[in-house]
Amino acid sequence: MRKKVGVLVSGRGSNLQALLDACGQPGFPAEIVLVISNIPGAYALERAAAAGVPTTVIPHKPFPSREAFDAAMDEALRAAGVEIVCLAGFMRLLSAGFVTGWKDHLINIHPALLPSFKGLHTHERALEAGVKLHGCTVHLVTPELDDGPILVQAAVPVMPDDTPDTLAARVLEQEHKAYPQALRLLAEGRVRVEGNRAVVTG
Ligand code: GRF
Repeated sequence: MRKKVGVLVSGRGSNLQALLDACGQPGFPAEIVLVISNIPGAYALERAAAAGVPTTVIPHKPFPSREAFDAAMDEALRAAGVEIVCLAGFMRLLSAGFVTGWKDHLINIHPALLPSFKGLHTHERALEAGVKLHGCTVHLVTPELDDGPILVQAAVPVMPDDTPDTLAARVLEQEHKAYPQALRLLAEGRVRVEGNRAVVTG
């Protein structure tokens, strides 16, 4: 049985596209059954629709609290039978209650080699810091921001003439490989969490 996946998005959805493409490959152990966006016009919604995947828009603004918004998403995910939730450019912080409810079944992609450059504007900050290697990380989500057990990382060189945009493009190419790879590991049940480490078996 393929694992049922829900993807939370807010924007252009290129990582969603990578996951949709992977799930379309024969033998991939997961299928995307629902895409939720908090932004009504997000391009990611068009990508999901083009792949024939159901979408739901849940704008965050009308909700009285983060918890109430998260509860609405949680309800939609559970109703769709989702077993694994992927954050793919989802630009809202999640409440501790939501994160705990999906413990070890919730993953995120971050455009930096964690634990370096948590938070926003990672490419600008990497250039300012003068690092020679940068990259992306797929990790299990814990209540602490960008801090959970690491599943997959990919590194890219930083070139002397890089701008945030050229560096972002180089990292993004790796994101599109790393995210499906991490989803595969989790969907195949090959991830064991020991403290803050994810041990991959097989
Ligand atoms: C990616 O860089 C991802 O790492 C970050 O937000 C961006 C989303 O891009 N969390 P996209 O919407 O997947 O194209």
